[in-house]
Amino acid sequence: MSEPLVIGIESSCDETGVAVVRGRELLANEVASSVEQHVRFGGVVPEVASRAHLQAMVPTLRRALQAADVDASEVDGVCVTAGPGLMGALVVGLSAAKALAVALDKPLYGLNHLVGHVAVDLLDHGPLPERFGALLVSGGHTSLLVIDDITSQITEVGSTIDDAAGEAYDKVARLLGMGYPGGPVIDKVAADGDPRAIAFPRGLTARHDLEKHRFDFSFSGLKTAVSRWVETERRAGRPFADADVAASFQEAVADVLTAKAMDMCDHFGLDTIVLGGGVAANSRLRGLLAERAEGRGVTVRRPRPGLCTDNGAMMAALGAEVVRRGHRPSSLDIGANSGL
Ligand code: KG4
Ligand code: ZN
Repeated sequence: MSEPLVIGIESSCDETGVAVVRGRELLANEVASSVEQHVRFGGVVPEVASRAHLQAMVPTLRRALQAADVDASEVDGVCVTAGPGLMGALVVGLSAAKALAVALDKPLYGLNHLVGHVAVDLLDHGPLPERFGALLVSGGHTSLLVIDDITSQITEVGSTIDDAAGEAYDKVARLLGMGYPGGPVIDKVAADGDPRAIAFPRGLTARHDLEKHRFDFSFSGLKTAVSRWVETERRAGRPFADADVAASFQEAVADVLTAKAMDMCDHFGLDTIVLGGGVAANSRLRGLLAERAEGRGVTVRRPRPGLCTDNGAMMAALGAEVVRRGHRPSSLDIGANSGL
């Protein structure tokens, strides 16, 4: 078979993404975001997101096909996020993908959004190794994975027991009055702060359950600690720099994530780790992971920041691998699975 040509559709949260991939080459990647419509609510409003997807889906698809300059009738599959995500948002992407699959008479592939966050790296750095680890950090999830086959063999060996890392970013940004989404703005503000200014807690750092091969995270204590610290200083009338709070918080997050990721690599004998998810765009996380991995001879793969946040390329990258391996397509009555 020649290199598979696939369309990837993503609509699990507030980004409507459509991409076209041939093999491991990204031919087009169009994203329409409804983020501006959620800013005043301080978070994604599901119904607003669904309505925005409904409006943006067809124009985004058209733009992607035009930019890729391919004939839609030549595609080998329509690949779409089936979950996890916001139910009403997922339904829009799935409906569009089903309609397209029927219209083109091509197979449909319902895929996992989180796996897409890892798979997208192959567009930037080539085929994934036989066996590798992944640190997946997004707005809704924080996980450590051992991957033997990106299309079928994935074991979660760690996850957050409370908040996701991205959620902590968003909550701390709100606390500091920096708006939504919090990750990019904290990343920016932190550049002018001192990461050692405040010693925020590193949740569960020393508490791996090695017997159970688990490397879990906790971020709610960190979020509470930042909130208490800010409140105390404000009440005492002591001035402080937001940049120091942002940098110290960011340091705590990056420290815990990278320490656990490295421990996972040691424990399972992994020599490659792929970073994925919206928080993978974070400059400190990218830097510290590379630094720590280098000291241990572990290769770090990080998709370019623009491919870390939600997009259709993730689903197309994963879909092309699924098609390449000859997996069976999804049934046309496949449902959305918000908790997949
Ligand atoms: O993967 P994603 O786009 O959506 C989900 O699947 O959840 O991740 C969104 C999350 C948000 O919490 C956002 O604040 C965070 O990724 N994020 C960042 C950065 N860019 C986005 N967090 C830290 N630093 C960044 N540069
Ligand atoms: Zn995501």
